[in-house]
Amino acid sequence: MQTAPIPHPLREMIERETADFKGAQLAAAAEALSTAYRAGLPAALSSPVARAAYLVTRVPATYAALTRAAAELPFEPETWLDLGAGPGTAGWVAPCDVTFVEKNKDWFGTTPGRWIEADLRRLPHLEPHEAVSISYALNELAPAERTRLIVEAWRLAGNALILVEPGTVEGFAHIRAARTQLIELGAHLHAPCPHQLECPMTDPDWCHFAVRIERTRLHKIAKGGDLSYEDEKYSYLIALKEPSTPPSGRILRHPKIHSGLIELTLCTRDEGIKNARITKKTKDQWRVARKSDWGGPWDAAAE
Ligand SMILES: C[S@@+](CC[C@H](N)C(=O)[O-])C[C@H]1O[C@@H](n2cnc3c(N)ncnc32)[C@H](O)[C@@H]1O
Repeated sequence: MQTAPIPHPLREMIERETADFKGAQLAAAAEALSTAYRAGLPAALSSPVARAAYLVTRVPATYAALTRAAAELPFEPETWLDLGAGPGTAGWVAPCDVTFVEKNKDWFGTTPGRWIEADLRRLPHLEPHEAVSISYALNELAPAERTRLIVEAWRLAGNALILVEPGTVEGFAHIRAARTQLIELGAHLHAPCPHQLECPMTDPDWCHFAVRIERTRLHKIAKGGDLSYEDEKYSYLIALKEPSTPPSGRILRHPKIHSGLIELTLCTRDEGIKNARITKKTKDQWRVARKSDWGGPWDAAAE
């Protein structure tokens, strides 16, 4: 798995914003965040130390997941709206200025951009933006509120709606429900799905991907461990207004590499979820498969 670099200015922002807290304070607040995260509960980010712990321990991961998802966009947005912005993580991902919508004013200004105080359950009038993102925020809403927000976000998306959620059973359930809804709204799915048919994923499995993040010294202190990296699991969806040409397959697991054989679990347009066995006999496929990775596209033409 490739490690996602965290840009230097983002690291500097995190260090600057958290400089007032001792390692032990950050560690205690980070533990409370992790407990809430594991229980699928919204992170309580009302206190300064909780927000500092979020910046140190969660933002590198949410930044990396959103970066991976946004890398699939087939165009470079010139306007971007981020709903449920938190500290403005999307501002470090977008190639343009971002309008942030957030209910917690304490986050305002953490990242440069235009900040709007609003409740995602009752959005004020907002102008459409080429790209709209909702990252790690759907899980903080009730089911009917999520459904309404997807309708609103889709209406506001000039071209792309990007959704990112934790790569948990619950996070994927939110993405899958939004997927069904967006297809009904006429969206063209672009990633990770290679088709608009019913999602072939069945219980107890769930569609998720992972990105590795290097832990900074501060991050290690807050997590109370020496491990120099962590893997963030995420589920995501990119839906477009314009017709899209997604790859014919998506790699759903780490490729299993044996001597002379690579096994890939693929979600495919034509055959649903299937296992592909690539051998050295098919040179072109072998070359592509050797460089393939979990989450990457798979082109049937190479099969
Ligand atoms: C876990 S944070 C995610 C922040 C950021 N999008 C990221 O990926 O790092 C969820 C954010 O959604 C915001 N949020 C949750 N419910 C909201 C609502 N009803 N209206 C506005 N913001 C909301 C929270 O205040 C919080 O900042």
